[in-house]
Amino acid sequence: MKKLSWYYKLFIFKLRRKINLDNLILNKKKSLNEVFNYFGTDKGINVKNPYSKFSKKQIGHGFGKFYEKYFYKFKNDNFNFLEIGIWKGASLASFYFYFKKAFIYGIDRNFKNNYSSKRLEFIYCNTTSVSDLIDLKKKLRKKKFKIIIDDGSHLLNDIISNLKFFFKLLDKGGYYVIEDFNHPKYFNYLNDSNNKELLVDVIIENLKKKKFFKSKILSLKDQKYLFRNIKKINLHKGSMVTLKQNISDILFIEKV
Ligand SMILES: C[S@@+](CC[C@H](N)C(=O)[O-])C[C@H]1O[C@@H](n2cnc3c(N)ncnc32)[C@H](O)[C@@H]1O
Repeated sequence: MKKLSWYYKLFIFKLRRKINLDNLILNKKKSLNEVFNYFGTDKGINVKNPYSKFSKKQIGHGFGKFYEKYFYKFKNDNFNFLEIGIWKGASLASFYFYFKKAFIYGIDRNFKNNYSSKRLEFIYCNTTSVSDLIDLKKKLRKKKFKIIIDDGSHLLNDIISNLKFFFKLLDKGGYYVIEDFNHPKYFNYLNDSNNKELLVDVIIENLKKKKFFKSKILSLKDQKYLFRNIKKINLHKGSMVTLKQNISDILFIEKV
């Protein structure tokens, strides 16, 4: 049962004017990074920090080249795309322009999305809430996705739980992407597992070797499902350096 304040936020969100992407004409942008920069997602390079009104710092992971490497082939395909964690919708808007015919879904536990389109749907969902996930499944009506990106909380438990729930919603031959998957390694406050879960890079090594590992979230059955359904996993380093280390990590898991 949602609180009254939630319905109030939903009401205000519905009233708020959005930018209709169907009416927006973009100059021919050369690369996906440039589109990311245009909309201001930190997937790009040298964008104004989208999470702080006051920071003058330019940030950016430079993930565009990796997305192009794996997804250029889907540019003109008709498929469903889903991003977990959309903030104000800058990345959704970017992918809307990159994938000319895809239907773009975005989910978030906040009502900050600024964009609308006939080809875009924002769905409220807090991925840590079982009832929200049940509602989400009902709304999606057995839809499958060619691409699912987890750019949510970056908390270790959430990254693993999202993989468990959302990987099953991928089409055959689809891709599951996890951005900033090493954040729980770099930032202690994001490692919320109390040593009950392995870090994501270690889990990935086990998945690659099809070796069972300890986890409270991924049961043996879940692990078997992943072993059977993962074709390939590729890891890449982006370009954001903080506290003298590169903290931009992205991985692409291809489904069988
Ligand atoms: C890094 S931001 C997303 C940035 C966006 N993908 C972009 O590139 O512009 C992370 C988002 O995840 C959302 N988030 C965090 N925890 C979540 C959860 N449990 N369920 C759904 N969304 C969550 C936050 O509200 C925030 O909007």
